[in-house]
Amino acid sequence: EKGGYDYFMLKEIAEQPKAVADTLLGRIDGSGSLTLDEVRIPPGVLREIDKVVIVACGTAFHAGMIAKYAIEHWTRLPCEVELASEFRYRDPILDAQTLVIAISQSGETMDTLMALRHAREQGSRVLAICNTNGSTIPRESDAVLYTHAGPEVAVASTKAFLTQLVACYLVALYLGQVRGTKWGDEIRAVIRDLSSIAGAVDRVLGTMEPVRELARTLASKKTVLFLGRHVGYPVALEGALKLKELAYMHAEGFAAGELKHGPIALIEEDLPVVVVVPSPRGRSVLHDKIVSNIQEIRARGARTIVIAEEGDEAVVPYADHLIRIPATPTLLQPLVATVPLQVFACELATARGNEVDQPRNLAKSVTVE
Ligand code: F6R
Repeated sequence: EKGGYDYFMLKEIAEQPKAVADTLLGRIDGSGSLTLDEVRIPPGVLREIDKVVIVACGTAFHAGMIAKYAIEHWTRLPCEVELASEFRYRDPILDAQTLVIAISQSGETMDTLMALRHAREQGSRVLAICNTNGSTIPRESDAVLYTHAGPEVAVASTKAFLTQLVACYLVALYLGQVRGTKWGDEIRAVIRDLSSIAGAVDRVLGTMEPVRELARTLASKKTVLFLGRHVGYPVALEGALKLKELAYMHAEGFAAGELKHGPIALIEEDLPVVVVVPSPRGRSVLHDKIVSNIQEIRARGARTIVIAEEGDEAVVPYADHLIRIPATPTLLQPLVATVPLQVFACELATARGNEVDQPRNLAKSVTVE
């Protein structure tokens, strides 16, 4: 049932292009507009929404962080994202004009369920993004957009994450479409890019051998740091989470701009630091800033592992290891940038003799608060 792979995780990583394509299937019509009929919240209601709040845990929370950038940019609606376990305890401001999005692979995560129950008690509409048909979270929500990742068996989430991203982009673009924003042209262009993104994910998967080799050389390291900016920041957090849960290594993700406010003190000789570099074509100011960050940490002895778009030559002089990803619109980059980090963590776990599909102390669905 592992389809020839040693682990479910490897199989699920390999299934990502299909999972992404399946999640898009039937949701973008021939004219490039979105048809999310399943989202039974009427367009009239979506036009009245004045705020979006996303709740989720773990990897799904990282998808939510990325969704925030997309929703705010494409819809100009304020969007908050919060760890479900923190959400209701701070007495959040919610009302009928708030759209709450609960993201969960299993649909059974107790923290997320309690957060959405709290939101509905305050009169907010809840849209679930979920991978498990008929599970509790979609049943208790006003509407659901299913991710079509298929069953995810490995405890560490991979294909579910990519499909959560796709679902979040669809919701963000749909909100933009329904509400009509000044980004109409950009939205149409992104919808086009999104429809062909599965091919880009597939291309990344075909180039992972050097990432595996690199991971094996780092098996005895104690710490790996991850840096990113903008949507690369949640990607860095996700890379660190994967490494913690699979390799049992200390790993931390930082917003690269925060380096100088403290974390740079951690940099020492030969410390592996993974840097997710934004596209030089999109938010080029961020690109230039992160290139200086790479220079700074390398000058202090860090071993830089740089994930950068094909054709980005500015990073080459400062990368001890360079991992190339296909060019995508800025906001879609996490779909390709996360893949090498999954492979990296999986290979490190194997090299350290860990149980890849069943990491210690973890359960696939967390049904206690
Ligand atoms: C990490 C991981 C967890 C889950 C989290 C939420 O690889 O799998 O962090 O993402 O427990 O689970 P769901 O999405 O089922 O609510």
